[in-house]
Amino acid sequence: MRTPLMAGNWKMHKGPGEAINFLNGLSDAVADVEDREVLICPPFVDIYALGRMLRKSETPIKLGGQNLYPAEEGAYTGETAPPMLKECNCDYVILGHSERRHVFEEDDSFINEKVKAARQYDLIPILCVGETEPQRDAGQAEEVVSDQIRGGLTDVEINSADELVIAYEPVWAIGTGRTATPDDAQAMHAHIRTILTDLYGEGIANGVRIQYGGSVKPHNVDELMAQPDIDGALVGGASLEVGSFERIVKFEA
Ligand code: 13P
Repeated sequence: MRTPLMAGNWKMHKGPGEAINFLNGLSDAVADVEDREVLICPPFVDIYALGRMLRKSETPIKLGGQNLYPAEEGAYTGETAPPMLKECNCDYVILGHSERRHVFEEDDSFINEKVKAARQYDLIPILCVGETEPQRDAGQAEEVVSDQIRGGLTDVEINSADELVIAYEPVWAIGTGRTATPDDAQAMHAHIRTILTDLYGEGIANGVRIQYGGSVKPHNVDELMAQPDIDGALVGGASLEVGSFERIVKFEA
């Protein structure tokens, strides 16, 4: 019922040349994949070229931004507006990634503005949430995640489940090789679904996809995807090679 969303977040890797080669390789590799959605989120400088390629091809691969600025246009040097992403063939946008929260000090209310801007311009937000290691050790993980979801979604109207994706990315698992155990990840995903039920009702909450992110690799994707509330993966390092990302997309649960 929930089509798995297998997404690569390239972060600040690959310029246009490498990105085009990658997309050619991935298109061939996933041409026969039917029961899952494949998404790549490249740096902004790659998006126009990749968007054109995708428009002309049969491949089901979709494109997303890694961020946006919540305004239609204006004097915001260095920023990217939601309609620009739409024009470049993006369907999704990652918002509130832990690197945005921690390196660029984005807080829940700014992320909330971004989620609203994404919805206004018909982009599907992938709202990222997750606790730090000290927060987990202090037993605060559920509360932190709950606050991030409620803060990020304040006054955000969702009319159908495919208008929103949540990515649970425990900060201590990102780029460290330490994945959450499938049981711990499942427990948090179930918790997230109860918050979504509270906000949007059971019908929508049961359809919203909740991705897991944080050191997802070919060797651990199968057991993560076997969990009932894990509906996809948001993959950093292992999405940078066609072979490893292909294996992740083609998980066997
Ligand atoms: P890694 O897969 O490299 O741990 O990164 C996860 C992530 O932050 C995806 O958004």
